[in-house]
Amino acid sequence: MSDPQPVYLSDYQPPAYQVTHTELTFDLDPTATRVKARLTVERHASAEQTAPLVLNGEHLTLHALSINGQALAEADYQLTDETLTIPNVPAAFTLESEVEISPSSNTALEGLYQSNGMYCTQCEAEGFRRITYYPDRPDVMATFKVTVIGDAQREPVLLANGNPVDQGTLESGRHFVTWEDPHPKPCYLFALVAGDLTKVEDHFTTMSGRNVTLQLWVEQENLDKTDHAMASLKRAMTWDEETYGREYDLDLFMIVAVNDFNMGAMENKGLNIFNSAAVLTHPNTATDAAFQNVEGIVAHEYFHNWSGNRVTCRDWFQLSLKEGFTVFRDQCFSADTNSAPVKRIQDVSFFRTAQFAEDAGPTAHPIRPDHFIEITNFYTLTIYEKGAEVVRMLRNLLGWEAFRRGSDLYFERFDGQAVTIEDFVGCMAEVSGIDLDQFMHWYSQAGTPEVDAHGEYDYAHAEYHLTLRQRTPATPGQPDKQPLHIPVSMGLVGTKSGQDLTLTLEGEKLGKDAVIHLTDDEQTFIFTDVAEAPVPSLLRDFSAPVKLHFPYSREDLAFLLTHDSDGFNRWDAGQRLALLALDDLIAAHRNGVEKVMDSRVVEAFRTLLTSSMDDKAVLAEMLTLPSEAYIAEQQPIVDVDAIHAAREFVRQSLAQALRDEFIAVYKENGTDEAYAPTPEQIAQRSLKNIALSYLMSIEDDESVALCEAQFAADHNMTDVRHALTLLVHSDRADLATPALKAFGEKWAHDPLVMDQWFTIQVSRPQPDVLERVQYLMQHPAFSIKNPNKVRALVGAFAQNRVNFHRLDGKGYALLADVVIELNRLNPEIAARLITPLTRWQRFDEARQQLMRAELERIKQEPLSSNVFEVVEKALA
Ligand code: PHE
Ligand code: ZN
Repeated sequence: MSDPQPVYLSDYQPPAYQVTHTELTFDLDPTATRVKARLTVERHASAEQTAPLVLNGEHLTLHALSINGQALAEADYQLTDETLTIPNVPAAFTLESEVEISPSSNTALEGLYQSNGMYCTQCEAEGFRRITYYPDRPDVMATFKVTVIGDAQREPVLLANGNPVDQGTLESGRHFVTWEDPHPKPCYLFALVAGDLTKVEDHFTTMSGRNVTLQLWVEQENLDKTDHAMASLKRAMTWDEETYGREYDLDLFMIVAVNDFNMGAMENKGLNIFNSAAVLTHPNTATDAAFQNVEGIVAHEYFHNWSGNRVTCRDWFQLSLKEGFTVFRDQCFSADTNSAPVKRIQDVSFFRTAQFAEDAGPTAHPIRPDHFIEITNFYTLTIYEKGAEVVRMLRNLLGWEAFRRGSDLYFERFDGQAVTIEDFVGCMAEVSGIDLDQFMHWYSQAGTPEVDAHGEYDYAHAEYHLTLRQRTPATPGQPDKQPLHIPVSMGLVGTKSGQDLTLTLEGEKLGKDAVIHLTDDEQTFIFTDVAEAPVPSLLRDFSAPVKLHFPYSREDLAFLLTHDSDGFNRWDAGQRLALLALDDLIAAHRNGVEKVMDSRVVEAFRTLLTSSMDDKAVLAEMLTLPSEAYIAEQQPIVDVDAIHAAREFVRQSLAQALRDEFIAVYKENGTDEAYAPTPEQIAQRSLKNIALSYLMSIEDDESVALCEAQFAADHNMTDVRHALTLLVHSDRADLATPALKAFGEKWAHDPLVMDQWFTIQVSRPQPDVLERVQYLMQHPAFSIKNPNKVRALVGAFAQNRVNFHRLDGKGYALLADVVIELNRLNPEIAARLITPLTRWQRFDEARQQLMRAELERIKQEPLSSNVFEVVEKALA
């Protein structure tokens, strides 16, 4: 077998044939579902008369094929494992086919599959070709009419996109429903669901006064977990009307929860399908973080109705066109609904840890890649989150009003079309008159730009000279980079006044908060009339996705931590201060020298804890130390043990020095109110729980008593899970074992809670974790076929840095074993799971060798194209 080959953006050709209307009939059966397709096909005006019709199709058994009612003989077409080619076709015709597929043996969860006995589909990106022969590409858009036939007992509910237009009973206990979707769509937005489901229903009146029925379909036992998603959906619908002027366009909007799902959720037209973890919540089973996640994902999928469905992507290289824009939209929605600074802090904190690592590793790719082997490998943090950062920069460059006009123009001009990133950015340039040519490099260059900043205050002339230099490191296939257009939002904070100074640049007064534009390799900005020596506050609100280096002293950082008017940078100053202290401690650990805590960090924390900051949510973030993963990102060679030891030392030192303050914060922020995922309650719980974390790092009797009491009070999952985690991560088996057991027994019936139970145990720092993972993989609640379970157990283990990176290599071997097994069952999940092994360059020689050896071992297998692509890159 030859190696899978990449496809290139530069090879794009418009389709020779369009499908304008698609009629499908599904006769459902677990092992032998029959799919009849009737396609109205037209040759594209620009295509050659002799152009063959080429359809995609995989894992299909063809039973019948005809053109304009005329059956085709085997000699009339060619069939391969991946395509059906018909050489001689008229300019316009009807193609009919009948194929057979087996949903019950579909473990890849692409196409039509079964989950808990129910039928469901996942077609993005290229899953539709596992359902029927079709031009499976987003620039082929058709109206759909779909009839689903199922067993009236086993599948009382039969759903597809659009509106139900017919239904009836058939012989031998079968029944059918017919659905029509009037909006032309690419086949990746097709969906079907059939099973024994119940619904909750609600209504929404759109801004033009139309009544939309909202339905959330779940299994019976989950009916009490739907309130939050439904409320979130209605808020998202209102927000998109008010913020972007976008109204829903069908009479019915459905969400279905399924247990087996590769991703978070999917924006199928009028019929969103959700991973149950991304939609179901209950105060007793879901944490605050889960509630917020559900709100964000429900909104994200809903927003796709415009940014993705009404206007879609021409080809999969343009994936960030819909994903970057939609993530930006959901981020703004969540910011508006909750605490805006905390949302930004959390997003950036995650981004700088995970996306920066991706951008620095062997799978680094631009927001718009120019080639790929397997598109499912490109649903990445780069496409999604960096894509969103780039859209955010556009919003900031244009200002909200012009950006909104650009968005309106984009939706109006391209409604019903499949378009490119140029089309989107072109609208932004057109409405604003801003030249965005250089800005386009953000879409084509991989790698995180590094900005080195250097500043000098000139007392004699009352000037501040700020020099910025940029460079983007080489990434695979891209040795040389062009300078980017980097908007740097900034202020100068006067060291005497503690206030933002007015910025005057080249004679122009810019106000106290300005954006300067770094467009060359190096530029010096001279601010005049600077009355006092300032500390610069740079990259406010993380105005560009770059690494900013400025030689701040610890005094500068302590100053910014309390004086910066930008909440994000106040937080970031604290992170930088902690990182400097951690650096020293990591070095001390490596050199076997006694560790000494930096008193400036202690004093900064004392100030935070006692200064009655009114934004408790931000305060909780400021009290959170950089994660081990983020600390690792800052190190030239990652020393997992030193990082862990240094961070634990800081936690314990802070807890010892500030024990009474943490106890006070803990006690002040308890609440007996009924649980609600409101920003106020969430802020209180975060603050209380972060205090408890510090206290449990010293495990004195009072702290342990507080923690056990919180666990026993069983008030809501946020508090219970937090307490349980602290107990289980303690060295004391007498704390860990009974709590874990009680929790596991209580929730044995609830898969989403059992996922949390798995994750908590395998995130322990203690060295018994590897054996525990092996043991839990045999647990009845675990299944390798369920992506949530794999993520909760194996994925979480690979995030447990001290244990995954064991020096005997057993952590790596365990992961590789699972990858090898999943390569056969679910290649998409297998390929994702390898990620931690692909980062081998970041570690010491011994670990590098062990990690590479596992990658080599995987490579010996007969690989799916998904795993092949990742392993090839990782070993290149
Ligand atoms: N398009 C989905 C989203 O971001 C993600 C997804 C991709 C889901 C591929 C399934 C398969 O909203
Ligand atoms: Zn999306």
